[in-house]
Amino acid sequence: MKDKEFLMIPGPTPVPESVLLAMAKHPIGHRSKEFSAILRRVEEGLKWVFQTKNDVHIYTSSGTGAMCSALGNLVNKGDKVLCLIIGNFGKRWAKIAKSRGAEVIELEVPYGKAINPNDLKEILDKDVNKEIKIVTMTHNETSTGVTNPVKDLVALVKAHGALSVVDGITSLGAINCPMDEWGIDVLVSGSQKGFMIPPGLAFLAANERAFEVHKKCEYPDFYFNWTDYKKNLEKDTTPWTPAVNLVVALDAALAMMKDHGLENIFELHKQNAKLLREGIKNLGLKLFVEDESIASYAITSVLPPDGVSVPDIRKTMKEQYDITVANGQNDLKDKIFRMGTLGFVSRRDVLTALAALKETVEILKK
Ligand SMILES: Cc1ncc(COP(=O)(O)O)c(C=O)c1O
Repeated sequence: MKDKEFLMIPGPTPVPESVLLAMAKHPIGHRSKEFSAILRRVEEGLKWVFQTKNDVHIYTSSGTGAMCSALGNLVNKGDKVLCLIIGNFGKRWAKIAKSRGAEVIELEVPYGKAINPNDLKEILDKDVNKEIKIVTMTHNETSTGVTNPVKDLVALVKAHGALSVVDGITSLGAINCPMDEWGIDVLVSGSQKGFMIPPGLAFLAANERAFEVHKKCEYPDFYFNWTDYKKNLEKDTTPWTPAVNLVVALDAALAMMKDHGLENIFELHKQNAKLLREGIKNLGLKLFVEDESIASYAITSVLPPDGVSVPDIRKTMKEQYDITVANGQNDLKDKIFRMGTLGFVSRRDVLTALAALKETVEILKK
């Protein structure tokens, strides 16, 4: 029987039944009072997860849409944007910045490592004329399973005077990322990760400093225009037709999250990731990120044992146990496999996945 698939990839993540049921209704009009009331509640819930007083825009797009919105509302041609790159998704910021005509400076470290704040400080200290306008970074780098020290990095950016633009796509709702307390200027996320709903929504919050820069943006993005979103949010609505049923799903998911509590959510992710990492080591497999202090609580990258290939591990996990794990990306394809503990994942799920992985390796080693 094939109705028990467990997605252990870093998104889309499993969706709770109560959320699926909430979505399975006729769409309601997006200009109705009923929908505005839902939007108001969802907005409050998102602010709670983002830990911010700023508005959170809700876009009909995947997470990359929110990344495009961030730079598409800030960057003018020729602006200097410093991109901190520890993997694929950090690189994506650089590509988006270039598409806006920015002059991009890249600080890239070997994949599997985090940015060392001293390296950032060195670059910012040299920028005596304050030409660097924006610094982009990834909180949780999904392609490697490394979490950047965003609190320290953002503090350095703030001291320099540039804007910090942070990808929290696989950290929000999983790993603590308090936007206001850490002084993050722009923070983005996506629905199909820690928020436990299907793909299709992206979120962005920008503070007043960022809005001041936005006002000077000569050609702000049309679909994701911050000013339009802000004006519409004041009236509990959105500029364009939103993905109504996904917003209803988000309402149900946020209610579940509130019930559990943010601290408990973070602790659950931490404990599940630690259980998974310990279990993998006990199986005799090697972790791609050995340094516990930067290892992600949302995604764990694993090296295959000698003589066993990543595609075979993925195939056996899927065919024999209905568990989907992710391959590595780009240069890491077929070199690592990635197991998500992101969103609606329980301790039981992790134990089951470990047992399945143990048998998988035994089968493939025969
Ligand atoms: C850290 C991170 N940033 C950006 C993205 C891109 O999001 P999307 O595929 O929803 O556009 C992902 C997707 O996995 C991600 O994990």
